[in-house]
Amino acid sequence: MPFPIQRHRRLRSNSAIRKMVRETSLSTNDLVYPLIVTFGKGVRNKISSMPGCFQISVDGIAKEAEKVYKLGIPAVILFGIPEHKDEQGSGGYDPKGVVQQAIKAIKDKVPELIVITDVCMCEYMSHGHCGVIKDGKVLNDQTLELLAREAISHAKAGADIVAPSDMMDGRVAIIRDVLDEKGFDDIPIMSYAAKYASAFYGPFREAAESTPSFGDRKSYQMDPANRREALKEVSLDIEEGADIIIVKPALSYMDIISDVKDNFDLPVAAYNVSGEYSMVKAAGKAGWIDGTKVMMEILMSMKRAGADIIITYHALDAAKELNK
Ligand code: PBG
Repeated sequence: MPFPIQRHRRLRSNSAIRKMVRETSLSTNDLVYPLIVTFGKGVRNKISSMPGCFQISVDGIAKEAEKVYKLGIPAVILFGIPEHKDEQGSGGYDPKGVVQQAIKAIKDKVPELIVITDVCMCEYMSHGHCGVIKDGKVLNDQTLELLAREAISHAKAGADIVAPSDMMDGRVAIIRDVLDEKGFDDIPIMSYAAKYASAFYGPFREAAESTPSFGDRKSYQMDPANRREALKEVSLDIEEGADIIIVKPALSYMDIISDVKDNFDLPVAAYNVSGEYSMVKAAGKAGWIDGTKVMMEILMSMKRAGADIIITYHALDAAKELNK
């Protein structure tokens, strides 16, 4: 029915009616806050490219987690910076590693907060790649065993969910297998199933001190040009035992979020990555955009595209807005 019978503006005339017909909602329940745990004592280093984010040592992490929980955010995801990096990424599966200690500290202080751990080798390897290197190549199958050890050590320390982000083939299957074998059959795997080789990770690599010392991650992370391939990645991870699917990055990958939502019935998480965060912060600070409004619009758009969960450095600021 054409104008003037149809007038879309009737349902936009005031805030109450707009609320009534709103199709998408955003809540603190949707958010996951990334925490970067570092070694040492009393450390709270500002990350210059990610204003508002810090590297925090184990002794300060539980307090930070409590802040997150009190804002109504249900979960954190932990990344670690070990004191020593080597060619086997041993800091990743050290029972006394920074993440393992952080899990315990958080679970002691705020047991209801869900602790997710990023399972990857890049932060723990001296060369910064996500797997074992031989002759300049990242070896797939040799890396799987290390990832499984890392996942187990996180589970033993008390992690609620493990999230492999390395993009080695077959890692969900081996992690599921080993978790089950060790009695952790109730620990879900949140898989970074569609993770692209993206320049949007730039600020995170400074934050996590994980920039590869040579080459790039294009031989294991996905090509940003590929859309159908994401569905293949996701279906394989589901077959291997994934419980939640992550699409990463999020902002320029909304089509992938939407495809995954349409094609599978598992919860979908969007990773609103560091570069996406830093752009908003920088433009907001310069006064070019209203940083808070743009942040809320971006998060809502990710929900609208199909995300059930959003991993975001904006979580604290967004929760403060949502709790107003
Ligand atoms: C580890 C990992 C990365 C991110 C999350 N896990 C870095 C990378 O793959 O280079 C990026 C997070 C972000 O940019 O916010 N593999």
